[in-house]
Amino acid sequence: MLRGKNVVLPSLLQCDFGNLEREIGRLEAAGVAALHLDVMDGHFVPNLSYGLPIVAAIRQLTDLPLDVHLMISSPLKYVDQFIKAGADIVTVHAEVAEDVQVTLDAIRSGGAGVGLALNPATELKVIEALLPACDLVLIMSVNAGFGGQAFNPVALEKLRWLRQRVSPDVLLEVDGGVNLSTIRDCCQAGASLFVVGSAIFGQSDYRAAITDLNDQLRS
Ligand code: DX5
Ligand code: ZN
Repeated sequence: MLRGKNVVLPSLLQCDFGNLEREIGRLEAAGVAALHLDVMDGHFVPNLSYGLPIVAAIRQLTDLPLDVHLMISSPLKYVDQFIKAGADIVTVHAEVAEDVQVTLDAIRSGGAGVGLALNPATELKVIEALLPACDLVLIMSVNAGFGGQAFNPVALEKLRWLRQRVSPDVLLEVDGGVNLSTIRDCCQAGASLFVVGSAIFGQSDYRAAITDLNDQLRS
């Protein structure tokens, strides 16, 4: 669905939730190819965002693919519900205490794209055995939990390592501190999906912000 091209995915964490329909309309008008939804439980990460009802509401507002990033402690319990709510890709963290392979299998059986995320401090060897189960690997360039943090270049090393080792069919996504100064390095390191929060929602003109980011990927 998102293969074979570079895609900027707006992370809706910092959008105006009182005007979700208008916000999504503005992003669609800006030509985005998918949306990134950050679900946080206040337990796996020290922040709470939103959950199933918002994902379902967004599903009613758009046909864009929904890339759902679960920053929650017990994703296995909820993956089916997120898929029913409209998630096209479900990404879970390698750092959860439960059996990640079982969770990835559940996402596969539910019919969604299978994503696996890794925080900056987590080493790639933790996920090596899980890679064959993945459609997407999400390399966090900040500690999961909050928008607006500074990009950690450890993500670039991980992207380069993965790009050399996984099949070209596996999507590499980067999330956290991706902006006009960092997006090109991420692309050169092998990412093709770029999650962006502040560098879009901190601007008044989303279309201009997204165009500028895409220009960095072309230049
Ligand atoms: C962080 C989230 C991100 C976040 C990115 O835990 O997964 O998707 O919204 O925001 P920026 O681009 O501001 O770092
Ligand atoms: Zn995210």
